[in-house]
Amino acid sequence: MKKEDSNKNKLIDVFGLKLISELHLGLERQGPGSSEMTIKALSFLDNLNENSRVADLGCGTGGQTMILAQNMTGNITGLDFLPGFIDIFNNNAKKLNLQERVKGIVGSMENLPFQKEEFDAIWSEGAIANIGFEKGLNYWKNFLKKGGYVALTYESWFTDERPAEIEKWWTDNVPEISTIGHNILTIQKSGYIPVAAFILPEECWTDNYFIPRETASKALLEKYAGDKTVEDFIAKMRYEAELYSKYKQYYGYVFYIGKKI
Ligand SMILES: C[S@@+](CC[C@H](N)C(=O)[O-])C[C@H]1O[C@@H](n2cnc3c(N)ncnc32)[C@H](O)[C@@H]1O
Repeated sequence: MKKEDSNKNKLIDVFGLKLISELHLGLERQGPGSSEMTIKALSFLDNLNENSRVADLGCGTGGQTMILAQNMTGNITGLDFLPGFIDIFNNNAKKLNLQERVKGIVGSMENLPFQKEEFDAIWSEGAIANIGFEKGLNYWKNFLKKGGYVALTYESWFTDERPAEIEKWWTDNVPEISTIGHNILTIQKSGYIPVAAFILPEECWTDNYFIPRETASKALLEKYAGDKTVEDFIAKMRYEAELYSKYKQYYGYVFYIGKKI
């Protein structure tokens, strides 16, 4: 395959982080999810109290972090490599009067500025693909106490086979994408007890992500009227949403919860 072909569908390479950041800055969530699913995942963690420390990696502007903070005691550190997201994160924490327990910092999930075994839980919604599922599970485990939890959402296949169009999109964007069964085995092999896995409902993608993103897309197109890079960027975003509506029976986000042995 020619290089330009193999890059055609890539989100980050083609669009650039600046546009991704600008499109998502005003959204409550930067990926599929919901408060209900965050709270459901939290219900599997039986080790949290007011002394607990939680890290939320790839936290974005903190949609899920604020929900977590409102449903647990203890402290949360959100980490994201986009400073614009972290500014909004810290403003949101302040608005909700959570600033004493919830802090956002700029950093890389691949080079964490934390102590070994510092955390009781590591949270990460829609972000582990940026480091890689297996690599992230293994690296992040170093920062968890024994008996601590990892709770994350990750793109997963629901079936062993699927149509070529959707297979290509996802393997171009998340080469490691696999089935739920395979991912659970990876969690186990990475030194965690698999505690739970559940599929995020459709509205987590549509009502909570694609619909608000489409409103933001229209505003971006107006702001940059005639800019071909922005038009191409939005066209790819729309293609991603179209693919979801066409092939949602084959894939989705799954919440995985594992406990460090
Ligand atoms: C799909 S968004 C999810 C954001 C948020 N967790 C949510 O569910 O709304 C992925 C996030 O990971 C962040 N990210 C990507 N690569 C990263 C890296 N290497 N280190 C830290 N953050 C990263 C992005 O800036 C983005 O905020």
